[in-house]
Amino acid sequence: MTSKSLWMSIAVAPQAIPLQGDERCDVVVVGSGIAGLSTAYELSQRGRSVIVIDRGPIAGGMTARTSAHLAPLCDDLMGEMQKIKGEDQSKLFYQSQAAAVDRIEEIQKREGIDCDFRRLDGYLFQGDDMPADVIDKELDAVRAVGAPVERLVGVPLNECDTRHALRYPRQATFHPLKYLAGVAEACAKRGVRFFANTAADEVVEENGAVTVKTARGLIRAGHAVVATNSSIVDRVALHSKTSPYRTYVIGFAINRGALPDALYWDTEEPYHYVRLQPGDNHMDFVLVGGEDHKSGEVDDADKRFERLEQWARGKMPMLKDVTHRWSGQVLDTIDYAGFIGKNPGSEYIYVATGDSGQGLTHGVMGAILNATLVTGGESKWTELYAPDRKPLKAAKNWVMENSTALKNLAEYVTPGEISSADELEPGEGAIIRQGLRKIAAYRDAKGNVHQHSAACTHLGCHLHWNSFESCWDCPCHGSIFGPEGQVLNAPAISGLTSIS
Ligand SMILES: Cc1cc2nc3c(=O)[nH]c(=O)nc-3n(C[C@H](O)[C@H](O)[C@H](O)COP(=O)(O)OP(=O)(O)OC[C@H]3O[C@@H](n4cnc5c(N)ncnc54)[C@H](O)[C@@H]3O)c2cc1C
Ligand code: FES
Repeated sequence: MTSKSLWMSIAVAPQAIPLQGDERCDVVVVGSGIAGLSTAYELSQRGRSVIVIDRGPIAGGMTARTSAHLAPLCDDLMGEMQKIKGEDQSKLFYQSQAAAVDRIEEIQKREGIDCDFRRLDGYLFQGDDMPADVIDKELDAVRAVGAPVERLVGVPLNECDTRHALRYPRQATFHPLKYLAGVAEACAKRGVRFFANTAADEVVEENGAVTVKTARGLIRAGHAVVATNSSIVDRVALHSKTSPYRTYVIGFAINRGALPDALYWDTEEPYHYVRLQPGDNHMDFVLVGGEDHKSGEVDDADKRFERLEQWARGKMPMLKDVTHRWSGQVLDTIDYAGFIGKNPGSEYIYVATGDSGQGLTHGVMGAILNATLVTGGESKWTELYAPDRKPLKAAKNWVMENSTALKNLAEYVTPGEISSADELEPGEGAIIRQGLRKIAAYRDAKGNVHQHSAACTHLGCHLHWNSFESCWDCPCHGSIFGPEGQVLNAPAISGLTSIS
């Protein structure tokens, strides 16, 4: 993906080189986002020897595209979660996510990581033309799980002084890559080894242990934790319970102090959110996000950014220039909780997937849970996040989300978007029909045409071009491929088949 986030100027473990041959360790962690690095931290704290590998640079995945709200409450509203998971499980969910925020606070303090971590208020407010009763229902649901909350009228955004709202104290935010750079340093001091540009091609159990196969060598370990955001060790089961959504962020410059430092989000669907991040020379950044849609379903990022900017300038007339525009992907689950723990059918392989838009807290909570399980401990959160759970009350969400795959496969019989690659301008991609097959064609800046099969290498869904990020998105389970066919996001493991 070509866009750059506000965080990407910080390199995490830049010294990491590719794997240089076979290795051994107690636990191999595949994936180096917040889930993988936090897992390495927790395990090295418990005295385990750990190797972390990543297909790309360390921490170059979705964590580098986040918007950094550390939220103890359910991102999709506590009321919605309670309808599916009931009060007791929702209470446990809140406690586990709050424990993740506490853990980040504790680690940055203990390791002396300068990452702009701060506790601050969060405001959920009535969206434009939205009824106020959503706020009342959510107030009841939040009180039921025992989280601190205050009902009020008015938030400090333009024309929002009569909006009904909830104030949540002790939310938090930070600079995610400054934090992970510090976590990686702390890990390295405890002997964790990092290998960048090393993709896991296979993770297999044999003879009571695990082998991770890569093109650069084998890693043999007692256990593996697969933290690749979307799981690479499960072909179908977990993926049928998650759905990929693309989401957008704009960064604006703002004079320091012009907006109270807090987290703001509204009740619209999808919701808008606002966060602040310290900058230099009395200027800060305001991040405004939203406009989510199912991945690959539309290719209209410019219109989405326009609408976001209009909304943001309406709510904050003091905003200055746009400094950043980026997008990323989140994986919603059918019951709003992630899938963390033993991989279904495995003995020594653990997974952390299904971020549900709160992947930062899920990643850290997942690290605590997986490190406990890998080292033979027990946790009160095992059942809540069990990857093999089948939430019956979420059946409606399951049917709705899986209809994407059926709709998608029908696209193989539709005409191409263009009839020949001659119609492509430099930098453009489109689908061409050639007999019975569909081709994903892209013309690079030098005029060379790259043609690949339009079938995703995960389970064969039909890819869609994303012109803002110059990549091919798979609407089914979230694989992303570069314009030259290389994998950019799991669950795909191999690149697209080249067609000459
Ligand atoms: C725009 C946006 C805003 C967001 N806002 C928030 C927010 O405010 N709060 C919040 O909590 N969450 C938020 N999220 C979600 C959150 O940022 C992510 O869910 C989280 O960072 C994902 O972390 P991760 O470690 O699971 O995955 P990643 O950071 O994606 O890491 C996975 C890593 O696995 C590697 N990998 C994949 N396949 C292989 C392989 N075969 N071999 C080796 N390595 C592999 C990838 O290269 C990648 O580096 C947001 C996300 C986006 C996109
Ligand atoms: S991600 Fe599963 S088919 Fe593409």
